[in-house]
Amino acid sequence: MNKTIIVSNRLPLQVSIQENSLEISPSVGGLATGMKSVHSEGKGIWVGWSGIPENELSPELSQKVQQEIRKEKCVSVPLDNQDIEEYYEGFSNRALWPLFHYFMEYTNFEQQEWEAYKRVNEKFAKVVIDNLDDGDTVWVHDYQLLLLPQLIKDQKPNTTIGFFLHIPFPSYEIFRTFPWRQEILKGMLGSDLLGFHTYDYERHFLSSIKRILRLDVNFNEINYHDRMIKVDSFPMGIDYDKYRNAALKHHSDSLEKSDLRKRLEEHMIEDKKLILSIDRMDYTKGIPTRIKAFEFFLDTYPEYKEKVRLVMLAVPSRSNVPQYQKLKRETDELVGRINGKFATVSWTPIWYFYRSLPFEDLIDLYISSDVALITPIRDGMNLVAKEYVATRTQGNGVLVLSEMAGASKEMNEALLINPNSYEDFALNLKRALTMPLKEQETRMKFLQKRLKRYDVEKWANEFFKSLEETKQVRNTTI
Ligand code: UDP
Ligand code: G6P
Repeated sequence: MNKTIIVSNRLPLQVSIQENSLEISPSVGGLATGMKSVHSEGKGIWVGWSGIPENELSPELSQKVQQEIRKEKCVSVPLDNQDIEEYYEGFSNRALWPLFHYFMEYTNFEQQEWEAYKRVNEKFAKVVIDNLDDGDTVWVHDYQLLLLPQLIKDQKPNTTIGFFLHIPFPSYEIFRTFPWRQEILKGMLGSDLLGFHTYDYERHFLSSIKRILRLDVNFNEINYHDRMIKVDSFPMGIDYDKYRNAALKHHSDSLEKSDLRKRLEEHMIEDKKLILSIDRMDYTKGIPTRIKAFEFFLDTYPEYKEKVRLVMLAVPSRSNVPQYQKLKRETDELVGRINGKFATVSWTPIWYFYRSLPFEDLIDLYISSDVALITPIRDGMNLVAKEYVATRTQGNGVLVLSEMAGASKEMNEALLINPNSYEDFALNLKRALTMPLKEQETRMKFLQKRLKRYDVEKWANEFFKSLEETKQVRNTTI
């Protein structure tokens, strides 16, 4: 029977070694949390990196890692320390990530890291091909593997290959600065279908194809080496029912309340409003700007002192990359300064957690927060915004969302803001805190209806349907 091979840099589970034994934990990030639901339903396998350097594992442990991973229908691509440093921390996260998010000043182009990027994409290709049978479909994900589609196509020309980019595709003016722009585009064009979260990213990509590779583009189809490649936008959804049902369970009495939940409920009794933000600790998420804008809010509307609290969960991410270390220091300092400035004996304005939390705690945070403040400077999609909405089973709550997040394109009923404007931020936060219940409910209803209809399953099905159509077109033109 034909299967689908999902390929991404990171597997949905992460392996680490704690006191000589293996520890398995779920991966963080929208790609992993979203695709996990798709993968667990399907009959395919998932190829990716386990999160641990292969050269630090004894042969026995390495075998054990493979066994554990196999249980979850996954196959690991072994990466050593040099790969991780040059391909993952280097090229992927010091060149592609900042450039694609318009952080040009953070972008670092190194020839040696480019060589590593090619080498590791080839390693992925080998593992995929080793696991590939005739008739299988390959679905490649994200910026770490932009060369992979062509590497597979070269060796297995009849394989149907889909690619989905989970981050923005930047405008031509940004992308053209990239030293290996042609190679990257050609790598992506090994796919039969290329998917993006929004129409804007798709448009930017097509514009680079026309201007850099000078290829014919007919609406959303590219003619390349006598192949028709389709490009389209598919805004990624969430596993709506999973979040909604978890929230319903947490509201019912069937579950013992966690300490976090009890603490959060004290706020309701004290009549303090909770404002929530959840992000990976990433400079694209606008964390320092958000904290400074929150200070501006408290200065501008002092009546909210002791009446609101910002609960800020920042999940450790890519902490070997210098820009992320700098961001962590800056965030720590800012939280300290603002809490020092405003705190009273009975109140601290910001509760700051630098860790990842289990699913149940995330649900507690979502259902206990009056406002979700999701204000990235630039974000491909942002699933946290969607998860907050899905858990608001009582119909109340307000989402304040950056217009720079891909999610804003489908979430017009949120309060959309420019995250760089403190005034816009403060005004809309006040609006959220004072929004009449009826209006909250009306907005939530629209948002929920849309998210439920276009959930992650539907997203994956639409992608596959479109990919399948490319196969039929190929078969009829052969
Ligand atoms: N998340 C998680 N553990 C945490 C905090 C967040 O698994 O402690 C998840 C969150 O539920 C969401 C994902 O991480 O599904 C973040 O995805 P998003 O699209 O918002 O941003 P990304 O991290 O992909 O840039
Ligand atoms: C974003 C990227 C994913 C990545 C995730 C977590 O969601 O689009 O490709 O897996 O961040 O980052 P990490 O570097 O830890 O895999």
